Amino acid sequence: MSTANPRHMDAAVIAARSREDVVVGDEIVRHRLYSRLVHWTVALTFAVALLTGMPIWTPVFGWMAHLFGGLTVCRVIHPWAGLAFFLAALVQFFEWMSDMRVEPWERDWLGPRTLRYMRYEEDDPRTGKYNGGQKLYFWAVSLGAVGLLLSGLLMWFPRAFPRWLIEVAFLVHDFTFICFAVSLVFHIYLGTAAEPGTFRSMIRGTVTRPWARLHHPAWYRKLTGEESRRTGV
Ligand code: HEM
Repeated sequence: MSTANPRHMDAAVIAARSREDVVVGDEIVRHRLYSRLVHWTVALTFAVALLTGMPIWTPVFGWMAHLFGGLTVCRVIHPWAGLAFFLAALVQFFEWMSDMRVEPWERDWLGPRTLRYMRYEEDDPRTGKYNGGQKLYFWAVSLGAVGLLLSGLLMWFPRAFPRWLIEVAFLVHDFTFICFAVSLVFHIYLGTAAEPGTFRSMIRGTVTRPWARLHHPAWYRKLTGEESRRTGV
């Protein structure tokens, strides 16, 4: 049960409209309103692009077309939703870029460290606002968004480009969206069920002090001036 003071909680929500990385009572503001709106725009435009794209991709997912009024409608909506997704991802890129520098000691997140993390075995007192896995995901999403845009533009205007290039574009587009869809399952799982208290950072904008101390100890130390749970660090 939460022991947070309700008056502080309201103050935290108000602060989270415009500020982040600040401590307000028992909570810490993690994502200001603008960041959250951008993130949900990325999620929504991606969902529309995915759901309209899958029935175009293969008849196996033809039933999804009914959600939008048929395959012809999907073909019209899909490239525009894709373009909107790219623009939202671009804004998100500039919003989060400064926090996403991968430090040399975080590079092994590309390897077995991610598996240790998924088994709740990862525990590094140097972890700042984002861990190495989140940073790598950010860069992968940003690169993937460029890949989807470029390949999508080629497929949108096929007559303007040579046939072989269009075929490469199909491969790039399909490979990238499949990687996105699979990684998104892990992303949503980690942001909700696997780590209780994370999802509220994208709704209220805030997290609790224990959450920050547990998952992002260096960020916690920086903002509160207190030690994280490890003594002497
Ligand atoms: C319903 C879908 C989604 C949910 C529930 C969700 C949830 C979250 C949450 C809770 C965070 C904050 C994590 C933190 O503060 O530590 C976050 C961050 C992030 N989200 Fe999402 N998200 C969704 C969709 C997407 C989509 C579609 C993309 C991109 C295609 C995306 C890309 C990112 C990135 C790059 C970050 C920052 C790095 C990270 O925390 O992993 N998200 N998301």
